[in-house]
Amino acid sequence: MVSERKKRIGVLTSGGDAPGMNAAIRAVVLATRKAGYEVMGIYEGYKGLVYDNMKLMYENDVDNIIDKSGTILYSDRCDEFSTHEGMVKAAEVCRKNNICGLVVIGGDGTLSGATEFSMTQGIPCIGIPGTIDNDLVVSDYTVGYDTAMNTIISMADNCRYTCNSHRRCEVIEVMGRGAGDIALYTGIASGAQVILTKEVFFEKEKAFADTIAYLDELRRGGKRNFTVIVAEGIPLDIKSEYKSELAAQLAKDIDYYTGDIDPETEARRGADPDNRKIYRPNHIETKFVRLAHIVRGGIPTLRDRVTASRMGVMAVELLNAGENDKVICEQDGKLTAVDIKYAISADKIYKIMLNKKYYEAGMLNEGSEKDYLKYHKKYETFSAGMSDTDKKNLAAYAERKLAEFREVAAEASKITG
Ligand code: F6P
Repeated sequence: MVSERKKRIGVLTSGGDAPGMNAAIRAVVLATRKAGYEVMGIYEGYKGLVYDNMKLMYENDVDNIIDKSGTILYSDRCDEFSTHEGMVKAAEVCRKNNICGLVVIGGDGTLSGATEFSMTQGIPCIGIPGTIDNDLVVSDYTVGYDTAMNTIISMADNCRYTCNSHRRCEVIEVMGRGAGDIALYTGIASGAQVILTKEVFFEKEKAFADTIAYLDELRRGGKRNFTVIVAEGIPLDIKSEYKSELAAQLAKDIDYYTGDIDPETEARRGADPDNRKIYRPNHIETKFVRLAHIVRGGIPTLRDRVTASRMGVMAVELLNAGENDKVICEQDGKLTAVDIKYAISADKIYKIMLNKKYYEAGMLNEGSEKDYLKYHKKYETFSAGMSDTDKKNLAAYAERKLAEFREVAAEASKITG
C-alpha cells in the first residue's frame, strides 16, 4: 500500500502529564500532515513504542482537543525503555511502522530517554518540554506551567477567604519536585506571608521559628488570614517516608506554637502542653493542604495553548530539516532548539548546585542523598565528550538561572516574612 511506504513521524507524551500537551499533539499532527508526511500517535509514552501500540492520526483525531487537559495519547513511565533491549525493540517497531522521526513531549526523564534512543538507535528525536514544574534549566518555559499556577492561585485565593472568616492559616504544599518556581510565583500571586523553596537555602528549625514569630506578629497587628506556600521535595533530614512531610509538620507547629499565653488560664490549668490551645485561645488555627495532582488538570491557558502549538510546529520543521536530538526551548521570548544532551546536563548541574549546601550540611534525607549522587553520575554521562568551554558555559548558565530565582525570591521577601 502506498500509504504504508509514506514516511511517518511519531508523536508521544511521557512522564507526568501537563495541560497543553493536547495542543502540542494537535500542532504536530496538523503540521506533519500539511508537510506531506503521515503521523503515528503512540500510546502511553515509550511503552507504546516498545509494545507497538500506536495508530495513524488524521486531522479529525485532533479536532476539538485544544482546550482539553490530560493527553489523548495517554502517558506512562516505561522501565523497559531504559534498557538496551527495550530500546532495540522500540527501534524495530519504529522501522516496521516507517517512523523516520519522533516528537516526544514530556519532562527531563522523557528527554533523557529521547537522547539515548536517538544516539544509540539512530531514530531522530525532537523534544517539547511538557511539565508543570518549569524545571528545564535551559528553557524559560515548559508547557503546562501557566495553567497549573493559575489553578493553584485560584485555590489559594479560596483558602485565603475562608481563613479570613475564621482567622486561620493555610499551609499549602505545591508540586515541583526539582524546582521551586511554582511555589515562588504562586506564593507571590496569592499574597502568601511565607514561601519556602530549596533554592533559597534554609535550616528547618530557624525557618519554622521565623515563620511562627512572623505570623504571630501579624496576628497581633490584627491580620486574620495567613498563607504559607511550601515547595514539595524539600530535602531536609526528616526521617520520614514522605519527603514532603515538612509542610504538614510546619502547619502543626504554627497551630501549636502561635498565640499569646493567657497567664490566668495557664496558672489555673497548669502548663500542660496538651492544653496549649486552651491557654493560647488566640493561636492561629492552621490547616494543611497538598495541591498535587489536582493541579495537573485544568483548562489550558492561552499561554500554554499558544506555546504548545508553536513548539509543535517547530518540532515538525526541525525533523523535516533533518535535525536530531534537540529540545525546543523558550529563551528571552523566542523559541530555539538546544541539544538535548546539553539541556539535561544543565539540569543536572543545576540540581547539584541546588543540593550541594544541603548535602554538605548533612541535611539530605536518605532518598534525597541518593538522588544527589545520581545527579552526579548522570551529569558525567551526559556531559561526556563535551568541551571544557561548553561545560563552563553550562555551569555559568545554571548559576545565572539560580541567581535569577534568588533575585525574585529576595524581592518577594520584602513583602513576606
Ligand atoms: O514532574 C511533574 C510532577 O508534577 C512533579 O512535580 C511531581 O513530583 C511528580 O510529577 C509526580 O508525578 P506522578 O505522581 O504522576 O508520578
